[in-house]
Amino acid sequence: MTSLYRKIANDLALHIEQGIYKPGDRLPGVRQLSREFSVSISTILLAHQLLEDRGAIKAKPRSGFYISTHVQPKINIPRVSRPSSRPVLVKGQELVLNLVKASNHPDILQLGAAVPHHSFLPTKAIQRSISKVARQQALDYAAYEFPPGHLSLRTQIAKRMLMAGVQCLADDIIITNGCQESLTLSLQTIAKPGDIIAIESPAFYGLLQVIDALGMKALEIPTDPERGISLSALELAIEKWNIRSVVIVPNFSNPLGYCMPEKRKKKLVKILSAYNIPIIEDDVYGDLGFDQVRPSVLKKYDRSDTVISCSSFSKTILPGLRVGWIVPGRYYNQIEFKKYVTNLATPTLSQMAIADFLVHGGYERYLRQVRETYKNHIAIVTQAIVKYFPQGTRITQPKGAFVLWIELPKSIDAMALYESALKENISIAPGPIFSASQKYRNFIRISCAQPWGDKLDSGLLTLGRLAYALYPSTGRR
Ligand SMILES: Cc1ncc(COP(=O)(O)O)c(C=O)c1O
Repeated sequence: MTSLYRKIANDLALHIEQGIYKPGDRLPGVRQLSREFSVSISTILLAHQLLEDRGAIKAKPRSGFYISTHVQPKINIPRVSRPSSRPVLVKGQELVLNLVKASNHPDILQLGAAVPHHSFLPTKAIQRSISKVARQQALDYAAYEFPPGHLSLRTQIAKRMLMAGVQCLADDIIITNGCQESLTLSLQTIAKPGDIIAIESPAFYGLLQVIDALGMKALEIPTDPERGISLSALELAIEKWNIRSVVIVPNFSNPLGYCMPEKRKKKLVKILSAYNIPIIEDDVYGDLGFDQVRPSVLKKYDRSDTVISCSSFSKTILPGLRVGWIVPGRYYNQIEFKKYVTNLATPTLSQMAIADFLVHGGYERYLRQVRETYKNHIAIVTQAIVKYFPQGTRITQPKGAFVLWIELPKSIDAMALYESALKENISIAPGPIFSASQKYRNFIRISCAQPWGDKLDSGLLTLGRLAYALYPSTGRR
């Protein structure tokens, strides 16, 4: 639990960062802040002390506290990626199992796997839904819920697809055991072993594992950390290679965090439709944008039924329930059958509980709040990294979700940093696992969906210290 004074310090830090208080401004008086935050004067004084320690404010004798005037270091974002231009078999994914296992270890500060800490998830409401459906649905939950899956859940998903710009019916949707299964079933249906799959670079390692498991080859396409996959590079690759499918995370991609501008989404779908290349989109973070407006999925622009849309509730409700879905368009029958032969069905109780939660649990209210929380966490962790990491570090500025992609100075080996951090009980995701050819040797990804407090702050400080230790050429900032 974050202590009250720390929370107030973080709120004030955010106001400073957002320019509500400018460098040189006087902070409102202690009494005024104590009234505004409804806390004691001593709590405000503790918050001030923390902000002073962080260098964000300065006390002037008999005058009050002022916002520091020192120039905030400019945050540089990583450059457009330049991956290998040849299709390759995926290498180096063995480490990922250790990474995800660490996400369940109570002693490890979990900055590695992109799994939100349980305190960010609507656990109470979903617990209520689970007990309710187990009580009220007689023994319906005991039976298989064969594909395409629970009707009430599909109806709720169809409603949500409308917010993402797609008009579809419950009958157009197939329930899966999470987005990873949605991606597997889609790729298995469209492509065969040896086929070339074009992907963003860096890419979510789970996708690389699916491509590997299915014996396909990955072709990494240069990707802009703010605008997404390069359309011109993709077209060139299509001219050169026999690309069977393209997999894209258009909204708040993992690890880059960009949201592809709508115009580019439209153009991407048009280009691939002209070449008759199916697109598999992964919208698992689509509900977690920091803007008010929910971005569209690629399927919105799909006039020729080229797009298969995949997603899940793992990042927004509970990953452990394992519920995802596919809107497969013309591949419906093949995918439905593949889902059935793969594991017969998705657990019935999970499907019913999520359906109940979507109807009664206040999902939209929860989303409004958690988006704000992630936005704040991204801002606070970014500040800490700027402060603690070596000069020359570049950090993405995600438009949604909760991960940061960090480019370290060239000489810092992310694998060595991963190893030394683990010895200090800190888990991070090293860059090479985000590339089929193990590029990104000086990059790491950090998940910010951890409670802010001493553990996270000192963990980031330690990580910065370890990065410095691997970077002997300059002194500390
Ligand atoms: C981009 C992306 N797609 C898919 C998944 C897997 O989702 P699920 O847990 O629903 O299988 C993840 C999880 O990290 C992800 O980041």
